[in-house]
This record gives sequence, structure tokens and C-alpha cells, in this order.
Amino acid sequence: MIVTIDGPAGAGKTTVAKLLAARLGFRFLDTGAMYRAVALAGLRRGVDWENPGELAELAQAVEIRFDGDRVMLDGQDVTEAIRTNETTVAVRCVADHPQIRQRMVRLQREFAHGQSLVTEGRDQGTLAFPDAECKFFLTASPDERARRRVADLQARGQSIPLADILHQQQRRDEQDRQREVGRLAKAADAIEVVTDGMSQEDVAVRLKQIVIERARAVSNGEAAPISVPQS
Ligand code: DC
Repeated sequence: MIVTIDGPAGAGKTTVAKLLAARLGFRFLDTGAMYRAVALAGLRRGVDWENPGELAELAQAVEIRFDGDRVMLDGQDVTEAIRTNETTVAVRCVADHPQIRQRMVRLQREFAHGQSLVTEGRDQGTLAFPDAECKFFLTASPDERARRRVADLQARGQSIPLADILHQQQRRDEQDRQREVGRLAKAADAIEVVTDGMSQEDVAVRLKQIVIERARAVSNGEAAPISVPQS
């Protein structure tokens, strides 16, 4: 069974998806980490971000794997390195590039092959797994998302004003919604969950209930089972 969780930055997708996967005994896939790893590879190789040909080559050259919770780039653990501000800034060029997206979606489908999976990102329910049995679109108000981000950064020793975070967030939302391929969008059959005022635990519990109901419907033949598309 495939469960997709899409939504804007700061909606709490990663934590909720991890909690949900652990409770269901499913594998977990953080697709944002894949784009971040490609961005880091580009920074390390000094690619010209304005050169689509170089980015297409990069897309083919990198090897990305998950080793449990760890993100591996060309055999090296980059779990922490992909979270720096430099990588966060560079990731937009990577995420906008159609050939890079194509390769990432292919890797995501390979990862899912034969597995029960909770996968989170921007295009998981729309493009990567359009036939997933259970799709969620997680949102929260801009203020709530920005407050969570400020708290998260504070916990890591960084103090950034709320107004700055709100501004960055608005820019990222626009970029995520406007890219030509794989833009952030709610799938027509996704369940929208607004997480304002809910703890991540509460959200995971709610999602788990829905997944279990859905799995029951699938096994009773009331819903179509998944087929993972071939790339
Ligand atoms: O979720 P995140 O912040 O780690 O994602 C990093 C970047 O990758 C972000 O700019 C959105 C992009 N992304 C994407 O375009 N498609 C996905 N499936 C996942 C992330």
C-alpha cells in the first residue's frame, strides 16, 4: 500500500510521515531529501546552475540511497549536510529542472517497488504515485507554519525574526506552486488535513485512522488497489 503526503513547506509533513510510517510498519520516503542531495552534489561539483545541460548530466551522475534514516550521496552520508542554508537555497534550481525531476520520480518508484510506503513531498499523489490508495494534502495557515519554523530554528540555536521567515515562506510557496513540472498541488482524490492547533502526534493518529479505513475498503474490494506506474 502506498500513502502519499504532499503539502507546502512547514506543514509538518516530514515528522508526521515518519510517525505514521513507524506506526503502520511501512517504509518512509523523504523525497525533499533527494532533491536536497542533488543540490548538494551540484554545489560540491561547482555546476553552473544556469546551464540546463550541466544539470541534466548531474541528474544522471549522482547516486542517491537511503540507509535506514541516513541519506547517502555517492556512498557518503550527507544527512546533516543537506540541511544547510546553502543547500536550501540551491535546491530550487534542482527542483525546477524537468530531467532531474524525471530521474527522482523514477528512483521513488523503484524505492516503492513491492513495499508498503509512506512517501512525502510535493508531487507524490499527483505525479509519482497517481494510483496510491491513500493520499493526504497537509496544510496549515502561513502564520502557524512560520511560527513552527521559527521554533524549529530556535531549537537548533538559530534566531530568525518571524517576519523574515514569513517572507521566505511566501517566496518558497510561490516557487513550489509555479514550477512547470511537479508543482505543488492537491491531487483530486487527496484528503486535505489542516493541522493548525494540532500536535504532530494528533495528526499522525488521525492519518493512521484514515489509512486503516482505506486499507479495509481496498481489501473488501470497495477501492481499487494500487499499481505503481512504470517510468
Ligand atoms: O521538503 P523539503 O523542504 O526538504 O524539500 C526541499 C525542496 O525540494 C523544496 O524546495 C521543494 C522541493 N521538492 C520538490 O520539488 N518535490 C518533492 N517531491 C519534494 C521536494
